[in-house]
Amino acid sequence: MEIEKIKDKVLSCRKCELWKTRTNPVFGEGDINAKIMFVGEAPGYNEDKTGHPFCGKAGKVLDRLLGSVNIKRNEVFISNILKCRPPNNRNPKDEEINACSPFLDKQISVIKPSTICCLGNFAAGYIMKKFGLKNRVQGISRLHGQVFLHNSLFGKLRIIPLYHPAAAVYNPNMLEVLREDFKVLSDKKQG
Ligand code: URA
Ligand code: SF4
Repeated sequence: MEIEKIKDKVLSCRKCELWKTRTNPVFGEGDINAKIMFVGEAPGYNEDKTGHPFCGKAGKVLDRLLGSVNIKRNEVFISNILKCRPPNNRNPKDEEINACSPFLDKQISVIKPSTICCLGNFAAGYIMKKFGLKNRVQGISRLHGQVFLHNSLFGKLRIIPLYHPAAAVYNPNMLEVLREDFKVLSDKKQG
């Protein structure tokens, strides 16, 4: 299967220096026929330990948000820009994004989602540039909740930048904003 081939490559990848400090690469997981894909930034402590995306505190927030619009985690596909954890959760470097993003590109071309939710600045910046929306990129505080439409090679695509769920872990106001923005996903037929 196409997705398994990509996964094998990720599991043995040494294309950037992050392989030296990772415990496990985090390929991403979910339904490869999903209509909705979530793209985060990079694995954190728990993800690096387990190899699963969004399994720590930010993941709990993501699960609650999905629950608020009646979507199950196994109905979507969850991935990240970087597949290996940056030490101390520092920001991704450009060269790491350049080295790793072909894996995400391949995941997108296999899954062919109709909606991509970008979690945080790095995901929004990368996905918007990839789909010809470079001149619309702004900080996530301005972009969040907007829906950008793009005619991709595999059909109509909605690109939705959102705040990163980690921002809501200790911030109820942010959680409320995310809940509001997630409502755009509540009609699954559109997604
Ligand atoms: N934050 C991310 O961006 N991705 C994860 O998988 C976990 C936390
Ligand atoms: Fe390879 Fe990506 Fe991990 Fe870098 S972050 S080693 S490019 S899988």
